Amino acid sequence: MKTSTSVLALATLASALPSRVNKRACDTAVKLSGSENVFKSYTLHANSFYKAEVQAAVGKLTDQSLATAAAKVGDVGSFLWLDTIANIEKLRTELATDIPCKNVLGLVIYDLPGRDCAAKASNGELAVGELPKYKSEYIDVIAGILKEHPNQAFALIIEPDSLPNLVTNINLQTCQQSKQGYEDGVAYALKTLNLPNVVMYVDAGHGGWLGWNDNLKPGAEELAKVYKAAGSPSQVRGISTNIAGWNAFDLTPGEFSGTSDAQYNKAQNEKLYVQLFGDALKTAGHPNHAIVDTGRNAVTGLREAWGNWCNVNGAGFGVRPTSDTGDERVDAFVWGKPGGESDGTSDTSATRYDSFCGKPDAFKPSPEAGEWNQAYFEMLLKNSKPAF
Ligand code: BGC
Repeated sequence: MKTSTSVLALATLASALPSRVNKRACDTAVKLSGSENVFKSYTLHANSFYKAEVQAAVGKLTDQSLATAAAKVGDVGSFLWLDTIANIEKLRTELATDIPCKNVLGLVIYDLPGRDCAAKASNGELAVGELPKYKSEYIDVIAGILKEHPNQAFALIIEPDSLPNLVTNINLQTCQQSKQGYEDGVAYALKTLNLPNVVMYVDAGHGGWLGWNDNLKPGAEELAKVYKAAGSPSQVRGISTNIAGWNAFDLTPGEFSGTSDAQYNKAQNEKLYVQLFGDALKTAGHPNHAIVDTGRNAVTGLREAWGNWCNVNGAGFGVRPTSDTGDERVDAFVWGKPGGESDGTSDTSATRYDSFCGKPDAFKPSPEAGEWNQAYFEMLLKNSKPAF
C-alpha cells in the first residue's frame, strides 16, 4: 500500500513537471507558409537518431581515416521517419534536445493503412481498414506534439510512394484495397498537420515513375484531388521526389535515356521531372515546389532497370542538404532516406521479402527495411560525391 501510494505520488509529480526546455529554441512562434521556401532561412536539422546510428557505425571502423570521414556523416541534416505509432516517441525525444532556432526538423509521415501496397519490404503495422486508428493514434498525436512546439519549424514529407502507387499500380488487388485509406488518410494528414510552424511536401515518386508521358497528368490529378479534399491547405508547398531513390538531379543525357522506351519519358533526371510534373500539378491546381532526395544518388549506371529500388549496390552518398539548387522550383536537396538504413531484407524466407531486394543489382545481405546495414553504410561513404 505504502509503495503504491509513493509510486502514484511520483507519477503525479513527474506529470506536473514542465518537459525539458530546448535551450537554443526560438523565443517567438514560427510562421511558415506554402508560399515561401523554408530552406532559404532554415537549415535541415541533423537529428540525434541518425547521429547515433552513425556514431555506432564509426565505432566499428578500424581504418582511422575512414572513421574520421564517417563521423562527419552524423552532422548531415536528414529526415526522421515516424514509421510506426511507437516511433512517434522519437519525435518527443528529439524535441527534448537543443535544436537551434534556425534549424527545421524534417519528419517523414509514413504509416498509412495497407502501406507499401505494390511491394512487400515496407508493409506497415496498420491493415487496410484501420484508418480510424491512423487518424486518432498517429496523425492526431503527431499534430498535438507539433502544436505544443509553436516555436519550432517542421518540414514534413507526406507518405512516400502512396499516391504514386494508386496511379500506376492500381491493377494490383492490394493497391485497390488500400486506395480509399490512402486518399482519405493523406487528406486527413494534410488537413490536420496544417499548422503555422509546418510546411508539407506530398510525395510524388520520381522521374522513372510518374515521369512517363502517360503518367504525368493522372499523377498530378491524383495529388490535386487529395489536396483539394483536404481543403487546399496553406502549408502545402509542393512535392518530394526521389525519396529513398537513386536518380541523379541533372545528369544529361539522363541515366536511362538510351533505353528503347526512353521516348515515352522526358523526365530523364529529377530536375526535368520537377519541371514536367510541376507543370502538370499547376494545371491540376496543386502547389508545385519540390524537395529532392540526394542522399544516395552520387553514383549512376548501377541499376539494371529504372524501377529497381532496393539497396542498390555500388551507391554513394550524394550532395548534402542545401537550398542552393540553381532551380527556382526546387526548394532544396535533402537527405530523405537515412543512408545506411536498409530498403528491405534480402532474406528470401522473411515475410517482408520482396524479390526486388534479391535482384542482381541489390546489395546482399541486407536486413529488414529501416535496419542498419554497416557494410552498406561503408560503401555509401567510400563512394560519396562530394567525398567526406
Ligand atoms: C522503412 C521504414 C524506415 C525508412 C527509413 C523504409 O523503407 O519501411 O521502416 O524507417 O525506410 O529507413
